[in-house]
Amino acid sequence: MIEQNQIFRRPNPIDKEVSWDKTQVIMSKTNSKGIIEYANEVFIDVCGYEDYELMSQPHSIVRHPDMPRVIFKILWENLKGGNNFYAIVKNLAKSGRYYWVMTDFEISKDQTGDITHYFGRRKAVPQEVISKHIEPLYKRLLQIESVSGMEASEKYLIGFLEEKKRSYVEFVKECIIDYEQEQYSKERKEQIEQDEESESRSFFSRFFGR
Ligand SMILES: Cc1cc2nc3c(=O)[nH]c(=O)nc-3n(C[C@H](O)[C@H](O)[C@H](O)COP(=O)(O)O)c2cc1C
Repeated sequence: MIEQNQIFRRPNPIDKEVSWDKTQVIMSKTNSKGIIEYANEVFIDVCGYEDYELMSQPHSIVRHPDMPRVIFKILWENLKGGNNFYAIVKNLAKSGRYYWVMTDFEISKDQTGDITHYFGRRKAVPQEVISKHIEPLYKRLLQIESVSGMEASEKYLIGFLEEKKRSYVEFVKECIIDYEQEQYSKERKEQIEQDEESESRSFFSRFFGR
């Protein structure tokens, strides 16, 4: 028999990433209070908890201390307001390792319009997006929270997004688009260089009659 407090003892974070198949989708379903009712095999493999350890636990079981509280505040404001939401989240596995994911939060309602469940579908986020855009922002928010509290970090986040003229969801979407465009330009540049090289080689082959 597993005791409740055994489950809630938070692992000590270690600065190592979980090694997992990043083509997979991590999925979970909660009740309206964020209590886990279902987790798919991928979730179980990545976070390292058994399904019996996850069921009926709050979703904060995988909360990483590097996550600023304000991100969850805006997540819940949106969910309770009936808006589907997307967030980039660093999670804590049972081993103490971390894994970064983009989460698509979806709301399920009954016939009277009351929220009955939430679904979270997560995919890996490219490391470049995390290092360039997300980690610097989250570190700043966390620092502000530890010194001046969440009200201050929320004000900072509002200012940060106002400057960009973006909502949080638009911001995370743009971080991914920015990365995809960089990848595309890199691939195009490599292709052009390869084409130029093979064109030059075929010119000299022709020239020397080989
Ligand atoms: C469907 C769903 C999925 C969630 N997934 C995560 C998650 O992967 N990681 C996480 O830290 N919080 C997740 N949360 C948010 C948690 O419920 C919680 O608000 C968060 O971990 C912060 O915990 P705290 O409010 O106890 O500080 C999810 C919530 C819902 C409704």
